[in-house]
Amino acid sequence: MQQDHISYLLALHRQQDWAAAAAACQLSPAQLKKAVAGVEREYGCALIKTGAVFRGFTVEGEKVVAWAQNLSEALSTLKHVFAASNSRKAIAPLLERRSVSPKRLEAPGPDRQEIDLMIEAALSAPDHGGLHPWRVLVFPADSRAKLADLFEQEKLRRDPLASAEDVKRAREHATRSPALLAFVISPKLRMRVPEREQCLAAGCALGNLLNAAHQLGYGAIMLSGERCFDSLLCTELGVDSTEYLAGFISLGSVAVAPPPRKPAMLDAVRAVWGPGVPEPVQHNDCRDSVPSTAVTGSQKPH
Ligand SMILES: Cc1cc2nc3c(=O)[nH]c(=O)nc-3n(C[C@H](O)[C@H](O)[C@H](O)COP(=O)(O)O)c2cc1C
Repeated sequence: MQQDHISYLLALHRQQDWAAAAAACQLSPAQLKKAVAGVEREYGCALIKTGAVFRGFTVEGEKVVAWAQNLSEALSTLKHVFAASNSRKAIAPLLERRSVSPKRLEAPGPDRQEIDLMIEAALSAPDHGGLHPWRVLVFPADSRAKLADLFEQEKLRRDPLASAEDVKRAREHATRSPALLAFVISPKLRMRVPEREQCLAAGCALGNLLNAAHQLGYGAIMLSGERCFDSLLCTELGVDSTEYLAGFISLGSVAVAPPPRKPAMLDAVRAVWGPGVPEPVQHNDCRDSVPSTAVTGSQKPH
């Protein structure tokens, strides 16, 4: 019996009428009767009580309908399983992206064309008013030693007693990753779009850039750290007082895979609203557990 025949029998069972069932199956009554007669011939028994008008299923017919109903439910479950799995497959790169810390990165990093492609992806992020309230600084290989000097000076401004090891680490933040970018939030002033929306647009752009890096096969991580709040360093990088140095993006090939992503906590971020009492969202309240240094960032990735 073909799958079509199963739906014909189920339509007949639902409608209890040849014409209505035929219409539901987009057949003429004669075509439906012919198809059902074919099934009866195939199995050598009558499924429908004989007569010019529909008078119901025979005992065997009722058994076949019960079996067909089970099969139809199983097929529909299977369809949903496949659909869900196809949906996950379609957005797998988004579901799988993980930040990769600089110590897990190695050469080669992305070249200029690939970096430009990532920036193009960032430019395609949602952006109220098309203001692109952000910009990216690219640090070519021959600029890294100078950047390391600036990082060292910033470290010593913040901590004049920093150990040689600490200073070395600060310098490494400029030199370690195969490729390095800085992401600057650059709100456009006196625009109708409020600054909070411009910051969100910048965040969307950053997300696109990191996802593009992942899709191109590179590991990437955004790190801020306290140096991003140092006004002298910002000035030296050309970040003006209306802008924010959001952080540095390290890019490279993945030498050591990061730990797998923890299961998504949908309930922490999703509530279904309806008129009446709002469903409480399970807030992941981190106010008590975040140290005050979190305001300026810790720069201690996994
Ligand atoms: C603007 C910004 C600054 C960040 N700064 C730091 C940082 O200084 N130190 C750190 O450990 N993580 C920082 N992160 C978080 C990491 O980039 C990363 O998202 C986090 O470790 C979670 O990893 P995941 O992206 O794989 O989920 C920052 C993220 C953003 C968006």
